[in-house]
Amino acid sequence: MSELFESELAGLASRRALRILRSTQGRAAVIDGRELILFSTNDYLGLSHHPAVIESACRAAREYGWGSGASRLISGTTIPHAEFEQAAAAFLDKPAALMFSSGYAANTGLLTALMGRGDTVFADRLCHASILDGARFSGAKLIRYTHNDPDDLARRLAAAPARGKRLIVTDGVFSMDGDIAPLAELAQLAERCRAIFMVDDAHGFGVSGPQGRGTPHMAGVHERVDIHVATLGKALGGEGGFIAGSRSLIDGLINFSRSFIYSTSPPAAQAASGLTALELVKSDTGAKLREKLFENMRKMVQILEKIGYNTQPVESHIVPIVMESGERLTGCYRYLLERGLYVPAIRPPTVPSGGERFRVSLSAAHTGDDMARLGSVFDELKAGGLL
Ligand SMILES: Cc1ncc(COP(=O)(O)O)c(C=O)c1O
Repeated sequence: MSELFESELAGLASRRALRILRSTQGRAAVIDGRELILFSTNDYLGLSHHPAVIESACRAAREYGWGSGASRLISGTTIPHAEFEQAAAAFLDKPAALMFSSGYAANTGLLTALMGRGDTVFADRLCHASILDGARFSGAKLIRYTHNDPDDLARRLAAAPARGKRLIVTDGVFSMDGDIAPLAELAQLAERCRAIFMVDDAHGFGVSGPQGRGTPHMAGVHERVDIHVATLGKALGGEGGFIAGSRSLIDGLINFSRSFIYSTSPPAAQAASGLTALELVKSDTGAKLREKLFENMRKMVQILEKIGYNTQPVESHIVPIVMESGERLTGCYRYLLERGLYVPAIRPPTVPSGGERFRVSLSAAHTGDDMARLGSVFDELKAGGLL
């Protein structure tokens, strides 16, 4: 490798590093030889450890083997894949669904299949990277509207040339800010401008709305959402992504979505455990877990009130604590670690410069003691003038 390339890589490599866990990741994990309470996982209901979820993964692995051995269109589609897709579509009141190996693959595979040169994607400025990447890879024009601002979107729709397909896309629950999109207003704009309306509800699925069906059901607009994306990697406690929509949309993706066609199918065990997790989400167990999560959200509000942090209301289980000065982030992060708490510090480019923050991710698995400990360490940081 050339010296220039080496030095470029060295500059990049110093920015982020991997942390190796020596245990399962539940409410706590062993990292660097110490047990830390995690406020970092998207396993919002704690289902990654549920015995029924683990058992169905094991059963499917024994029956179908671990790897699927081929892409979905060749010989990589098993009964668990088909059953998961049917159940996910029914849960979201859509005719059909399609599972991908990740939410990232679902979004990029969808946008590149559906959109192209001459089309326009209107995306919220804070949409997840997988949506922005998919829009860019597709060759369509990407217009980013001001975060959660339907008036700005309306202006941009009016100003854009009326040619090609138009697609409006938003996260349901925003992954770094935890706030919820104004879905009713966006649906109305999509209808008025004859645009396709897509919601990526990765973080709302399993948690928000009736039975955890997500933010479109919570806002009562699910029938007006053309494309509903969600993942198995968050509240379902597994791995994978899926898209729900019309039968023709799903057939089109089976034929044209490159991340679906040219990639090894996720293992049957992944689909089988996803199905069991989905059944739990729908059941009384799911209702109790959501109630516990909402209780932890209420405790988080009390913690924020106590430290006098009230710049942003808590709308979901993702709670950002945006720093007045990004320079203090690393010091606070180390202090939290010393006190046994792992709260991820989020820096640019994941968030814009000036938006450095702690992303507190709450789970039903957190106990009252975990929440109290988080509260008292934030108190100490506040008292020390750090937060
Ligand atoms: C809104 C959103 N969409 C998609 C993804 C990607 O999902 P996955 O982790 O399954 O690739 C994420 C991941 O954090 C996300 O926050």
